[in-house]
Amino acid sequence: MGAVVLEGVEKSFDGIKVCSQIDLSINKGEFFTFLGPSGCGKTTLLRLIAGFITPQSGAVFIDGNEVTKLPPEKRKVGMVFQNYSLFPYLTVGQNIEYGLTIQKKSARERQKIVELYMDMVGLSGFGGRKVTELSGGEQQRVALARSLAVEPEVLLLDEPLSNLDARLRDKMRSEIKSLQKRLGITTIFVTHDQTEALTLSDRIAVFDKGRVVQVGTPKEIYDTPGNVFVAGFVGDTNLFRVTRSGNTIRLESGIKLNIPSTSGPGNWLSIRPQNIRISAKPIHEPNSFQGRLLEKQLNGVWIDSIIEVGSTVLRVAELNTFEMKGELQPGDNVWVTLPENGLRLLED
Ligand SMILES: Nc1ncnc2c1ncn2[C@@H]1O[C@H](COP(=O)(O)OP(=O)(O)OP(=O)(O)O)[C@@H](O)[C@H]1O
Ligand SMILES: [Mg+2]
Repeated sequence: MGAVVLEGVEKSFDGIKVCSQIDLSINKGEFFTFLGPSGCGKTTLLRLIAGFITPQSGAVFIDGNEVTKLPPEKRKVGMVFQNYSLFPYLTVGQNIEYGLTIQKKSARERQKIVELYMDMVGLSGFGGRKVTELSGGEQQRVALARSLAVEPEVLLLDEPLSNLDARLRDKMRSEIKSLQKRLGITTIFVTHDQTEALTLSDRIAVFDKGRVVQVGTPKEIYDTPGNVFVAGFVGDTNLFRVTRSGNTIRLESGIKLNIPSTSGPGNWLSIRPQNIRISAKPIHEPNSFQGRLLEKQLNGVWIDSIIEVGSTVLRVAELNTFEMKGELQPGDNVWVTLPENGLRLLED
């Protein structure tokens, strides 16, 4: 049995279902991510696992024991809340010590553990500081140290990086990952940020409106999305409604494309922007079309081009290398190729 197992978990508030039939099994030591848009029930599910709320039906197991009705302090879970929830009137040290007092550890033990975890999150010497005198990133690390200090079996992290600037977020992301690997602690990480999910996770569960729509490794989720929602939510993609006849599909705009004979069913076409080829000169290959460059956006590593082919608008991404000549300008004619192997048919 997994370290955390959810069986048919259902939760409603005021008759509105927020978590529907959730079945998940998270392995020991795994870094598992709940990924989904705002309001899809991620925090609710985390609170169900932590024991702050109980489900109307279904069961929660931690380490093989059913904990569905147990209070949080009996579950051996540590949680970092979406807003950190530090005690503002306590110092850094007292915040980290809090759970250890509840565990009735001796003063000596408490001091040793507090120093160990302050050191681990890079806050040695901060013990006497008030948490209100800390930066957002430092507060985030106190929250992490506080949840780790009680040596939980399971660590629950609810969007712990969302309040940080981009640089600090990158730094904390790798700190959390290396800490988690070093301690081997089963971790459930909640985010609505696909990059965070793809870079950190062993596996991801994608949520939509209170349901799990796909579970897989980052590569599986990105390369083989299970439906049109996952394709659109995880990574950029071009999506079009299509009708199929044999190995040909037709977009609503009339464009016809060859698809591989192995394509599954589905009335949506997804093609990632980096899989479309673009040229200033005519291309005479299957699935190639003449279009017009509408717009070009530089975002550092990539150059995004918006291209119109008839009434179809495509987003194309090219790597911004020193070889880029930048010869295409908005208004120019361009030729695009949508290689068969880059096309995926998906269902609703
Ligand atoms: N205690 C509650 N009472 C009533 N409704 C609630 C309660 N807690 C959550 N909800 C509702 O349940 C839905 C899911 O909320 P939840 O906090 O789980 O979303 P989330 O996926 O964590 O979103 P976000 O990414 O914005 O944090 C929302 O519509 C929310 O308003
Ligand atoms: Mg939330």
